[in-house]
Amino acid sequence: MHSRWPRLEGLAYGGEYNPEQWPEDVWEQDVTLMREAGVTLVSVGIFSWGVLEPRPGEYEFGWLDRVLGLLHDAGIAVDLGTPTAAPPPWFLRLHPGAHPVTRDGRVLGGGSRQAYCPSSPAYAQAATGITRQLALRYGHHPAVVLWHVNNEYGAPVGECYCETSAAAFRDWLRARYGDLATLNERWGAAFWSQRYAEWDEIDAPRTSTSVVNPGQRLDFARFSSDALLACFLRERDILRELSPGVPVTTNFMATNCKSVDYWRWAREVDVISNDNYLIAERTDSYLDLAMSADLTRSLADGGPWLLMEHSTSAVCWQPRNVAKRPGEMRRNSLAHLARGADGLLFFQWRAGRFGAEKHHSAMLPQGGTDTRVWREVVALGGELAGLADVRGSRVEADIAMIWDWESWWAQELEWRPSMDLGYLERVGAWYEASWRAGLTADFAHPEADLSRYRLVIVPSLYLTTPEAAGNLRRYVAGGGTLLVSCFSGIVDAWDRVYPGSYPGALRDVLGVTVEEWLPLRAGEQAGLAWEEGDAVWAGSAGCWTESVKLAGAKSIVRYSDGPAAAGPAVTRYDLGDGRAWYVSARTDAATTAALLALACESAGLATALENTASASTALANAVRPAGGGEWPRDLEVVRRADGERQFITLINHGETSADVAIGDRLVAVPAGDVMVIRAESPPTVR
Ligand code: GAL
Repeated sequence: MHSRWPRLEGLAYGGEYNPEQWPEDVWEQDVTLMREAGVTLVSVGIFSWGVLEPRPGEYEFGWLDRVLGLLHDAGIAVDLGTPTAAPPPWFLRLHPGAHPVTRDGRVLGGGSRQAYCPSSPAYAQAATGITRQLALRYGHHPAVVLWHVNNEYGAPVGECYCETSAAAFRDWLRARYGDLATLNERWGAAFWSQRYAEWDEIDAPRTSTSVVNPGQRLDFARFSSDALLACFLRERDILRELSPGVPVTTNFMATNCKSVDYWRWAREVDVISNDNYLIAERTDSYLDLAMSADLTRSLADGGPWLLMEHSTSAVCWQPRNVAKRPGEMRRNSLAHLARGADGLLFFQWRAGRFGAEKHHSAMLPQGGTDTRVWREVVALGGELAGLADVRGSRVEADIAMIWDWESWWAQELEWRPSMDLGYLERVGAWYEASWRAGLTADFAHPEADLSRYRLVIVPSLYLTTPEAAGNLRRYVAGGGTLLVSCFSGIVDAWDRVYPGSYPGALRDVLGVTVEEWLPLRAGEQAGLAWEEGDAVWAGSAGCWTESVKLAGAKSIVRYSDGPAAAGPAVTRYDLGDGRAWYVSARTDAATTAALLALACESAGLATALENTASASTALANAVRPAGGGEWPRDLEVVRRADGERQFITLINHGETSADVAIGDRLVAVPAGDVMVIRAESPPTVR
């Protein structure tokens, strides 16, 4: 369980340190500069297998002894990697059967990293060997406060389709179903003559002539996530045995990794850590950052988490690697902090001179210390030291959003009603609406207890288990407000449509049936209209509409044109002590925002946009627009609290000053600036 934090003072600050890429005389300078920058934690050894074990069973630990000694003497703690993400060249030469194979049968070569089949017994043996040696040697080293297993499991190889993997898949299926009759029934094997009479007839779902059985695809996705998890657990258990008391992590890529079901993984790591890189092409990538941080915090069950990697400036692997502008790295860093991180690390400490990532930014750039990036890195280190008391406080969320890897997998298989309706697109759209309304969202598994939230949004849940449907129903009946967006509740865990009208699993939660999906052509729009008092509101949707029939719910918004014209577009169903909204279209941003406001109102949750109070009316020190003005569109507001103390982070991503009132106090946040306000009574500005 993720409850053990590394022994560290204050907030962790640092980066990935690769001393093996440098002559030893650079190490002293590194450590001196780390101290200057306020570095407290570095990750070491993540890609060092080749230098630690140059030949199978021959180890060279002297250099690592010296590195850890230097760091420890300087008071810098170490997150020590098991280097198993990058087996050395000897591994594939000795074990050619361990090459990963893609779905379309390509055998992936070496010369890079992550080139191993997760189910390979040879890999298991080699990874066990190096992990055991490291744990024996450094398990009680005073510098080592955290173990970092492997690196970003699931990327770039999330699934392997070699013969070894196919055999392991069959074993996994046997354990799951026991008999073939059950498997045939779950997979709907009566379709296209796919009934299995022998286990050995089952293959990995390789690229085939046409679409492959969706139940088989989903089980293979589950198997693949479990196969990687088994790799992690194997190493974790060695570390727990030989290095008791030192927590173990592996770095996630929360919103960015489709192949790994992190809800299952989160239970197994001691410290949740995440890597986050911005898509440089987007100018509003702070929304993606916030969503990733919120999902990471939710994986940590609201507890502290570690930002294992982000970048000081440009990355090197996008088509256009745009440098971060002055102040952007600070905004990014403090946004992670605001959303629950108790430590901030970068990839990487020192910019490398060779290899694939030599053009990637670092804390210490190619240009050394007389650079903007270095100055910002040093300033941030100082600022974090002054924010040490934020550590341990918890983020106060206003709403929850449902997130589910299984539904993501299922929704994006082939032959769906519209390829334009993607999982992340809807989650992102509802997330953005909440962010801009000043609401902080937790993410939750569909079967998790939701009773503490006043509003729960289901942006996209095509695959809904009966347990999830029952959970959502209980939540509403118990007084909650639920908002479900289109194309949810359609299939079970094997992609089988629920009997009867859509949305099978959620009909009785939403009080509607859907007779037909009415997807739109590329570029087509459908109008939406609703009345509120004397005003008539108009909205619009693209890509997706539905023919909705009321079965207890009220129509609140109707389609004004398009294939569903005059039919209900948005409905509300009063169920027990709560209410369930259904939004049957892929609404545009303005319409999504307006609908969110309606749902908030029905949940008794005021948004910052409403200009009345903060997102969290229950909290003292509500943040409001100053002087009754407009809510600043690009202002990010997040609270952490700990007993009596509140830390209100205000981040102005806009180009003009954002003026707000906190309690009776006026606060102007300059364009591009961040303020962390300690709110007691009255609030004091740092
Ligand atoms: C991460 C990876 C690091 C480094 C970084 C560059 O995904 O874990 O090793 O490659 O990207 O941005």
